[in-house]
Amino acid sequence: MFKDKIVVITGGSSGAGKEMAARLARRGAHLALVARDREKLAAVKKELSAGLSPGQKIGSYSCDLTDPEAVEKSFQEIRVEIGPPDILINSAGVLYEGYFEKQTLEVFRELMEINFFGTVHCIQAVLPDFRRKGGGRIVNICSMAGLMGIFGYSAYCASKHAVAGLTHSLRHELKPQNIHFHLVCPGEFASPMVDKVNAYRSQENRVMVHTVPVLTASEVAEAVIKGVERDEYLIIPGAATRLVERLNRWLPGFSRFFTDWRLKKVCRGPGAGD
Ligand SMILES: NC(=O)c1ccc[n+]([C@@H]2O[C@H](COP(=O)([O-])OP(=O)(O)OC[C@H]3O[C@@H](n4cnc5c(N)ncnc54)[C@H](OP(=O)(O)O)[C@@H]3O)[C@@H](O)[C@H]2O)c1
Repeated sequence: MFKDKIVVITGGSSGAGKEMAARLARRGAHLALVARDREKLAAVKKELSAGLSPGQKIGSYSCDLTDPEAVEKSFQEIRVEIGPPDILINSAGVLYEGYFEKQTLEVFRELMEINFFGTVHCIQAVLPDFRRKGGGRIVNICSMAGLMGIFGYSAYCASKHAVAGLTHSLRHELKPQNIHFHLVCPGEFASPMVDKVNAYRSQENRVMVHTVPVLTASEVAEAVIKGVERDEYLIIPGAATRLVERLNRWLPGFSRFFTDWRLKKVCRGPGAGD
């Protein structure tokens, strides 16, 4: 399914994006890695280049996804250097945790700009290629935070719910054009993003998020690739996370009760530590 396909991976320099890139390289895809930090991109490109077959292409593109003109320019470079994309994987994202009353508007805006508008900009940039090719595939790396509320993630959850809503709608709208969507909703997995949050996250957030085991980025990447190969729309890596998603969907009252019960033991509130 991936052999000789041209795959754009935003956030391909780190975490799940990097792990998916490694797997797709082994499956014979041509890769375009997109992120801001040139050095990190160059390091991943060098690492993956070592295992490529003759003729297999890989390119790295430094771009801030919040800037639609910069995104368009990067996709133009990808068309010229690698070719018009067959698959877009939107994995770039940022995460901040904190009590709502302590979150600034800048945090809300930055999360929407990167997690939501970054995804919108890339989909807009790739659609003309998919139309010319008669189809394509878009994998949006969302989160369980896009399907349910999580203590301390008010801004992050809002941005990921926006990604989920966008994906649900576009799945219907673009299916007649043979454009397939996948919505990936992992629970927490180990990555540089989580390392940063671990340095300051609230106890309530830690308790709620760690209801399920923390996966590795490699486990998440494997689940995504397999889910795409099976043409699954909703991909939830990890059996425990899938159970939480089902409980939240089918028994929402119980799910809220259980969460309240667990949080009651640790709830400190925004004034704690002042
Ligand atoms: N880790 C988790 O527990 C978890 C759980 C559920 C969902 N997710 C989602 O999974 C995806 C990958 O997360 P991860 O943990 O693998 O994160 P990560 O290791 O921090 O990687 C994030 C990637 O996004 C890029 N990025 C961030 N802002 C960008 C911007 N404005 N323009 C272009 N690239 C940008 C980063 O590169 P630069 O900084 O160089 O730009 C990096 O390559 C994210 O969408 C995240 O929300 C993560």
